[in-house]
Amino acid sequence: MIRVETKGCESFVDSAKYEAYVAKALDAFDVLKDETGAGNDFLGWKKLPRQITDRELSEYEAIRDKWARKGVDLVIAIGIGGSYLGAKCVMEALSHNFAKQLKRKDAAEVVFAGNNLSEEYLAELMDLAAERNVACIVISKSGTTTEPAVAFRIVKQFIEERYGKTDATQRIVAITDAKKGALKTLSNQEGYKTFVVPDNVGGRFSVLTPVGLLPIAAAGMDINALVEGARKAESSLAVKSAENPAVVYAAMRNLLFSEYGKTTEILVNYNPKLTYVAEWWKQLYGESEGKDGTGIFPASVNNTADLHSMGQFIQEGTRILFETVLHVEKARRSMVIGPDPQNLDQLNFLAGKHVEHCNHMAELGTRLAHIDGGVPQMTVSIETLDAQHLGALLYFFEFACGISAYTLGVNPFNQPGVEAYKKNMFALLEKPGYEEATRAIRARIQ
Ligand code: PA5
Repeated sequence: MIRVETKGCESFVDSAKYEAYVAKALDAFDVLKDETGAGNDFLGWKKLPRQITDRELSEYEAIRDKWARKGVDLVIAIGIGGSYLGAKCVMEALSHNFAKQLKRKDAAEVVFAGNNLSEEYLAELMDLAAERNVACIVISKSGTTTEPAVAFRIVKQFIEERYGKTDATQRIVAITDAKKGALKTLSNQEGYKTFVVPDNVGGRFSVLTPVGLLPIAAAGMDINALVEGARKAESSLAVKSAENPAVVYAAMRNLLFSEYGKTTEILVNYNPKLTYVAEWWKQLYGESEGKDGTGIFPASVNNTADLHSMGQFIQEGTRILFETVLHVEKARRSMVIGPDPQNLDQLNFLAGKHVEHCNHMAELGTRLAHIDGGVPQMTVSIETLDAQHLGALLYFFEFACGISAYTLGVNPFNQPGVEAYKKNMFALLEKPGYEEATRAIRARIQ
């Protein structure tokens, strides 16, 4: 289902060195498979696809159906980082580009909150909520993250005032730790339906837990097909081989980074629906590998739009880049360019051609130009952008991330650096318990 191709790297790398990195990646594969590496208590995501039951999936769909019977047409999904990006990327990838404008009513509209601290954003979200029939999914593994907690306080108050305390408990679902955290305590107290984020699954690996699956189901998307695709990827990627696409991807990106100074990887797409797949991927690789003073910086571009803004830099700027192109073989819709008798735009040579053919030629032309400009290229291909192939792609990137981070020599499953800003923010906001830190930070900024 997933193909990785490295031809566009061949002129940049020594083949013996590549073999050496494949050997390293195969060792890392064993570490991941045998669960002997750092952070091995966070490997629950590996077996998720095969462990998810039909019963679990129908529970998520039952919530969607219950809300539909109440007339809910707006679900506010509250979460940040790993408690947000998985659901967001699947929804963007599988939605009609203009679903909102077309006012399609197959399911409730899902919007996100708690992924920023903008007052304007929350105020405007409440403008929308005021006009709609609202439910809420609040997601926080720790149950203590400030951004979602602030948003939930506001949304909860709104729902309780609008629908009353009793109905509010039918409109709010919490996804959090099984036992601990403020959100778990509040949910027990208020009687919310809760789902558990497994202890052994980190936020950025949680798209196939309720964290991703419930909001995706609420948006009316096919979670069965998504999981089915991930299952297929799980079984095909479990085979130890130098041709395993996850091994190839991990080996090549580590080789380019460690031996050739390519410190930035750009994930390139040619379909706006993939924009948030790249955002999800950035968190996955950025948090998993960026530590201990090392790591490849994950960046992304959305082509062909960004060829008209970032193309110049990629072609001729600092030579620290390599690209991984997300290639989708077949478009799911058809649009053929017609002839024009006047031909003022001189495009009649394209008459009868599919737009996607032009897109593929732009992709191929860009790949060759960037190789000429000194940018090694890999491609990760899927046949088409549907739920099954997307499920396979997400699992592929997770599995390859584990191999890649172990090849690099870091623990893929911790994120100690995420805490630093929080300490400063709490000190500046004068959170009780942070008095000492407040005094210290004030002295720094005077
Ligand atoms: O990957 C991670 O663990 C983080 O990005 C978290 O997902 C993010 O900080 C949100 O945390 P929580 O779900 O505990 O609110």
